[in-house]
Amino acid sequence: MKVLRTRNELVDALGAPHGTTGLVPTMGALHQGHLALVAAARADNDLVVGTIFVNPLQFENQGDCEDYRRYPRQLPADLDLLEGAGVDIVFAPSVEEMYPTGAPIVRVHTSSMGGRLEGASRPGHFDGVATVVSKLFNLIGPTRAYFGQKDAQQVAVIRRLVADLDFPVEVRAVPIIRAADGLAESSRNQRLSTEDRAHALALPQALTVLRDRAADGRDLEVESVRETLRSAPGVRLDHLQVVDPATLEPVTTGVISRPALAVAAIHVGAVRLIDNVELVPGVGVDKR
Ligand code: PAF
Repeated sequence: MKVLRTRNELVDALGAPHGTTGLVPTMGALHQGHLALVAAARADNDLVVGTIFVNPLQFENQGDCEDYRRYPRQLPADLDLLEGAGVDIVFAPSVEEMYPTGAPIVRVHTSSMGGRLEGASRPGHFDGVATVVSKLFNLIGPTRAYFGQKDAQQVAVIRRLVADLDFPVEVRAVPIIRAADGLAESSRNQRLSTEDRAHALALPQALTVLRDRAADGRDLEVESVRETLRSAPGVRLDHLQVVDPATLEPVTTGVISRPALAVAAIHVGAVRLIDNVELVPGVGVDKR
């Protein structure tokens, strides 16, 4: 596995003919969810490129915040995991390498699609994601790019980025990987105490209730599920909404008649966690 730190090294390495390329963009602190992305990329492509870059643009104040400073950085361990998973090239640039003239003036604007849900609590976040992902698409020219379904809004925004700006890339969403207790794998889980982790389980449990009600063809009663989360010990609800999977526009709830997505975010201690489930109406709980 080659580990490259500069854009010039990357351009050189990708210069030789190499068939199809699968890109797995990450911010490091890798877990099983990332390894599932790599496995999918490995199965589909001749060459797999992983990137590790904690992108300041997608954090509050362009990275001048605690969340950015405290984001786990563990390059040697991440490289071991990527090598074990069969990645061919890792691109792990510094901030100066990625943004040599400082914070970019020209950026991708994700408008209201990036401004709602996660974006409502994190202004500019999806513009930062779309900008860095556009740079990676331009630098690497992947055939396919792999993103975790856990960040459902990110997947939807990247699909629109590709459609609206004509990037010749196929976007693949890889299903959420959950730990045995049901919590969706996330780099942020590392920051949960044992007690916080137990509190955090209220999130997948609430989403499961919605998934089962949809499968049963019942009224989702979203407000009652919100109330359960609001009163769960150690949890502060940020949002819980039912949206269209492609546009992220809110859908009228009650009994749903077409597939939808339930998306939610909670705070547990100092950690903000997100999760989502697909709601498939009327399939029956046993056939989900
Ligand atoms: O999902 C992430 O880890 C990041 O948002 C991404 C896609 C690597 C862009 O920085």
